[in-house]
Amino acid sequence: MQEVKQLSLNERKVLKTLYERGGEGYAEEVQEKGGFNTKDEVISASSWLRYKGLVSLKEEVKKVYALGTEGERLVKVGLPERRALNYLYEKGKISLEELEKCLEKYEVPIAIGWLKKRGWAELEKEGGKVFVKITESGRKALGEETEEERALRLLKDKGYAELDQRIANLLRTRKNVLEEKELVKTRIILSEKGKMLASKGIEIVEEISQLTPEIIRSGLWKERKLRAYDIHLLAPAIRSGRPHPLTQLMKEVREIFISMGFEEIEGDYVESCFWNMDVLFIPQDHPARDMQDTLYCKKPKKMEIDRDLLRVIKEMHENGGNTSSRGWGYRFSEEEAKKVLLRTHTTVNTIRYLYKNPEPPAKVFSIGKVFRRENLDATHLPEFYQIEGIVHEEGANFRQLIGILKEFYRRIGFEKIRFRPAYFPYTEPSMEMEVFWKGKWMELGGSGIFRPEVTLPAGIKNPVLAWGLSLERLAMLKLDLDDIRILYENDLKWLNEVPLL
Ligand code: PHE
Repeated sequence: MQEVKQLSLNERKVLKTLYERGGEGYAEEVQEKGGFNTKDEVISASSWLRYKGLVSLKEEVKKVYALGTEGERLVKVGLPERRALNYLYEKGKISLEELEKCLEKYEVPIAIGWLKKRGWAELEKEGGKVFVKITESGRKALGEETEEERALRLLKDKGYAELDQRIANLLRTRKNVLEEKELVKTRIILSEKGKMLASKGIEIVEEISQLTPEIIRSGLWKERKLRAYDIHLLAPAIRSGRPHPLTQLMKEVREIFISMGFEEIEGDYVESCFWNMDVLFIPQDHPARDMQDTLYCKKPKKMEIDRDLLRVIKEMHENGGNTSSRGWGYRFSEEEAKKVLLRTHTTVNTIRYLYKNPEPPAKVFSIGKVFRRENLDATHLPEFYQIEGIVHEEGANFRQLIGILKEFYRRIGFEKIRFRPAYFPYTEPSMEMEVFWKGKWMELGGSGIFRPEVTLPAGIKNPVLAWGLSLERLAMLKLDLDDIRILYENDLKWLNEVPLL
């Protein structure tokens, strides 16, 4: 609830003035009665009061009049009939022509018309000539101001004014005397809340509403009252720098894996087909290798691969080598293996790690960008981050994999997760994780246990649990986004307003 002590001096003055005037009034009236210097002060204070719900403002368009060019002149010299009357008073009776001595030529018929209409003079014919003679009421009217004259004087004094319609119509019969104008008037009306507050009594005292170093230094603050803060008022938000939501989310993911005992690894964006696909037992005619999905490099076009390792993998693909696998049964191309590409998944990071560190146990993860030849739309990006990870240890099993992933999602804030059977050429069994979001199941990533065809050439005998998840999908869920593109648009308004994760 608003309190009087939270209002500025001018706000109080407006409130008090309105209350004393029965609850409402025009800004001009409030200015006059409230002792304001300008109307602007009243309007400004009233806008604040409206914002605080204490008054409402209504704009009314009023028709007002100002003096026209002829009006300006007439205010100075007098209306034609007035000038004629004065002249007649001196002379008693004059010929019609003589009227031109005190009037402009064009004013003569106007003056005669009004003199007759008002009964100030009479026309007489004598010897073929027309004479004008002052009447009794003409004499009486000498010292009296007509309504029209009063109105003109008012316009001269005030610049503009509202006029009685009848008088305005009278004046309008004369050319260029009046100018019509539209005036916007602001009516200020106390609200129920405003009335209640004002009814408690409003004290008008000078107070300090803004504390300055001068006021503190001079000690003035000790003598004067300080205006109370209204902590309910909305203040402009001060935006400071902050990490991008994706950066924040990455940090959160990193902290979760580290707290679960994982170590972070990294890799390169540019990889060979060999490491990105062949060592993972992805057949060379797999659709994912298609120009559709993979971005190949022109320069360099080829990357050298260790000869011995290349042979082992070639045999694995062709016939299973010295393992019990029968391979894929096609002719492996070394040229294909040497092709250079932008990594399509970060599984290349974990498999490289395993080749370098074949001894268990290992728990590592990576968060990194991957690239695919995909069209940009509301749910797809050609460049996105993957959260990759493996657990390599004796006796690792499928239940453990489910447990780790469930725990990860739980910590990031998703409870409703399901696992579905899936297929990847490098894992068996394989599964897909899905989360229930906005009424439907949404895919989050894949996982599984690396096949012997993948692990045996690296000299690994124990099971390796593996997964790869999309960071942006997580961001979509956490930030409730319908369109994934917003994450990369750098729309400052969105960035400022997006909640902290
Ligand atoms: N590499 C897969 C992808 O890009 C995810 C995955 C990683 C699946 C590890 C199984 C094991 O979607």
